[in-house]
Formats: sequence, C-alpha cells, structure tokens
Amino acid sequence: MDECLDKIIDNYLENEGNVLTILQDIEKHYGYISEDAVYRIASELDIHPSHFFGIASFYSQFHLKPRGKNIITICRGTPCHIKGSEKILGRVRMELDLLGDEDTSDDQLFTLEEVNCVGACGISPVVAINSRVQGEMDISKMMQEINKLRATD
Ligand code: FES
Repeated sequence: MDECLDKIIDNYLENEGNVLTILQDIEKHYGYISEDAVYRIASELDIHPSHFFGIASFYSQFHLKPRGKNIITICRGTPCHIKGSEKILGRVRMELDLLGDEDTSDDQLFTLEEVNCVGACGISPVVAINSRVQGEMDISKMMQEINKLRATD
C-alpha cells in the first residue's frame, strides 16, 4: 500500500492537485479510503485528517470501508417498492448473511447497496449488478445472479 500511496502523494505534489483528486486516486486504487491512508496523506501534506474525512463522507463516490468484489444495488424507489424490491432486498440480505446494518459479506464477495430510483421505473423492480441494470427482477433471478457470481469467483 505504501508504495502506491507514495506515488499518489507525489502525483498530487507534482501536479498541484486538490484534496478531491487525491481522494479519487486513493478510492480508484484501493476501492475505498482507509483511515491509515487518510492519516498518512494528512501527515505528508500537513492538512488535518478531518478535512479529508469530511470530504470523503460528503461525496457518495467515496467509501470509508472495504467493499465487496461485486456490488449489488437494489432500487428502493416507490415503483420498485410496489413491485417487490423489499422482498428481494430481504432475501439477498439473508442469502449474504448480512446482519444489522452490515452491507458487505464476510467473504468480501458482495456489497449490497440501496438507491432511490435509477430512472428505469418502467422495468421495475430494478437491480444493478456491478453497474449492469436489470429490470423485472425477482427473487429467483436474483439468486441465479448471485450463484453465477459465486461460481466465477
Ligand atoms: S423507482 Fe426503481 S427505477 Fe425508479
């Protein structure tokens, strides 16, 4: 991690970047913004860590904990809700053994996210699997998708 972080910091200094770009580089490379990374860049750049944490928590593009290899996004907007998204969500949570507010499976294979309307209400309920939007989803199709992803791991 350190070598890559060194490059990100060097790039920031050479190109007079801003804190947003350094966070984007960290997110892009590691898949999330770790506390260690924030304290390291804060120390190197002499900027208080809270500045980075504030930005990272404000923008939804940043994640402050590791995410799974596959991202399952379930739409929770009203049209999708009416067509059964809550049941799909509950079944996926059970399948991935996600308790409480956990969103990433213990094997780090899946992260479950919820969104409000992806603009495809006509084909609700909608689920995106690794950004691939799939409409008219049901529990059976959802389980097939999860099993396919498990098989390709
Ligand atoms: S509410 Fe789900 S796509 Fe619009």
